[in-house]
Order: sequence, then structure tokens, then C-alpha cells
Amino acid sequence: MGILDGKGAIVTGAGRGIGREIALDFARHGARVLVNDLGGAADGTGAGGVAEEVAAEIREAGGEAVANPDSVASVEGGRAIFQAALDAFGACDVLVNNAGILRDKSLFNLEEDDWDAVMAVHLKGHYCCSRPFARYIRETDRRGCRIINFSSVSGLLGNFGQSNYGAAKAGIAGFSRVLALELAKYACTVNTISPGAATRLTIPLVEGRGEKVDADSFERGPAQIAPVVTWLASPAADDVTGQIFHIARGSVGIMQQPAVIRSFRAESLWTQDDLDAVMPALVDARRSHDERIKQEATPEPLSGTSR
Ligand SMILES: NC(=O)c1ccc[n+]([C@@H]2O[C@H](COP(=O)([O-])OP(=O)(O)OC[C@H]3O[C@@H](n4cnc5c(N)ncnc54)[C@H](O)[C@@H]3O)[C@@H](O)[C@H]2O)c1
Repeated sequence: MGILDGKGAIVTGAGRGIGREIALDFARHGARVLVNDLGGAADGTGAGGVAEEVAAEIREAGGEAVANPDSVASVEGGRAIFQAALDAFGACDVLVNNAGILRDKSLFNLEEDDWDAVMAVHLKGHYCCSRPFARYIRETDRRGCRIINFSSVSGLLGNFGQSNYGAAKAGIAGFSRVLALELAKYACTVNTISPGAATRLTIPLVEGRGEKVDADSFERGPAQIAPVVTWLASPAADDVTGQIFHIARGSVGIMQQPAVIRSFRAESLWTQDDLDAVMPALVDARRSHDERIKQEATPEPLSGTSR
């Protein structure tokens, strides 16, 4: 018995990198997988047949998979991807919004096309693929479904030269929080991944810093993301929703969500003198909060859990 036996799953951008590992792992755990990938270059230009290669690999290993080459970046593409899964499997339970591209430039050089292309694949792509699935869940009253979205430290923490990508990835975290609320009554969970893995998107950046990276090692390769996504897709994660999990360098962690960590109440309209007193106290509160969180977040050995 596999933990995903009988589940129909869509994994977007599953022809390479992290998505490919998720599709393979889903199939190993019994899911029927729609392997979606447009197959273009890392900047989103062009197209190719990588989805079919991964679907064939799954079938050769005894699993069930079909390929789909549509783009996540349009409403028609999102509909076609979802319909392909329904046609193939008769039902759908899991959607992994993983497809991605990069157009890194500082804002000074960021052209409209670089902004639009990244927004279209990432932020709009999440909308285009999630909407048909959400409507299907409501129309069929299907229970126990999963949506697993892909954000990034670029959007959650910030990264130089990625204002387009960071804005899209922060938007995905916000989108996911809202979707978790909207789909809760159908027992559909919505969680977000912040991954760190050596793939064609990141290897050039890491090597640009003069660092060598072994994409086959368990701590650096894309395979480390897949087991966590499989767990989130499985019944074990029935009660886990609205969360952001950071998976990188062999560790898995849960990220904090935006929250007020200290506040003051005014006695009348704020004066500049009031703010001269209050604002430094708020900034200090933030600094000590960050310091404490940093210490608490240091990866612990697995033996620290109660298993
Ligand atoms: N690798 C990391 O460290 C890292 C860090 C943060 C976030 N991410 C995110 O993880 C996800 C996977 O990235 P990866 O590193 O595996 O990259 P990757 O380039 O190896 O894989 C992404 C896949 O998405 C496909 N794709 C791109 N545009 C598409 C479209 N319009 N429709 C369908 N498929 C499309 C590509 O063809 C590619 O095969 C992305 O959302 C990325 O932003 C990755």
C-alpha cells in the first residue's frame, strides 16, 4: 500500500528539477501523476518535450503517468492541464504548483517583459491552475484534496536582483493563506514550500559565488524536497494547512507568518514626539525577535523528535 494510492495528482513544471522529483516520488507512493511541463529555457522562452520523458520514466518503473505540455501562465493553459488530469484519471486530488522561471535583473535594468513573464508563470500561474481545481472541489464536494504551492526566500526574506520574482513569490504566500481559508470547508489543505535545491535555476547563482555544488547529494539536490511534498499530500497531513515549510540543505523547518510582535496604543492622534519614542522600541523589538528566532531555528538532529 502506498500513502498516495488512488490519488490523482497534477505536478506543474515536473519535467525537470524539483517538480520532476515530486512526480517520481508521488508515483512511487501510488499516485497517478499528470506530469506538466512547457519545457522551455530557464528564462521561460521556447518549449520542449521534457514532460513526456518523465511520464515515460514513471511508466517504465511501473507507475501511472501522463504528460501535458501546456503553459501554466494562461487561463486556457490552466484549464487544459486540469482537464487532462480529469480525462486521464477521472478525478483529481492533489495540485502542486511548482512551474517556474527566472529573469534576474536589478530594478534599474528590469524591463516590462521581464516583470510580466515572471508574474505570469509564478503568480498568475498559481491562479490559472488552482481555480479549475478549486471549482471542481466545490462542484463535486470532493474532500481531502491538497494544493501545494511554491514560494521562495526571495519573496519571503528578499534577495538582490529579484524584485519581479520576489514580488511574485511573496504574492504566492499571500495567495496560499487566503486559499487555505477559502477551501477549509472542503477539508482541502493549502500549504507553501520555500525550497532550496541545486537545479538549473540556482546552480549558476551558486557557482557565480565561487561555490561548488553537488546536485546529487541529498543535502543539496532537488530530491530532498519531494518526500516533504509527498507527506503533505498524504492523509498524515490532514490537519496541516496554511503553513510555509522551508526545505534546504537537508533540513525541514516551519516558517513564521507575518504577525504583529509588539505594539503601542495612542491616547490621541499620534504626534511626531510620540513616534520618536515608539518607533525605536518597535524596531528593537523586531531585532530581538529575529535574534531569538534565529537561534531557535538552528537545525536540530532528528533524534530530538519524539519518534
Ligand atoms: N531551486 C531552488 O533552490 C528554488 C528556490 C526557491 C524557489 N524555487 C521554486 O521551485 C520551483 C521549481 O524550480 P526548480 O529549481 O526545480 O527549476 P527548474 O527550472 O529545474 O524546473 C522548473 C520547471 O518549470 C517549467 N516551466 C517553466 N515555465 C512553465 C510554464 N509556463 N508552464 C509549465 N511549465 C513551466 C520548466 O520548463 C522547468 O522544467 C519554481 O517555482 C522555483 O521558483 C526553487
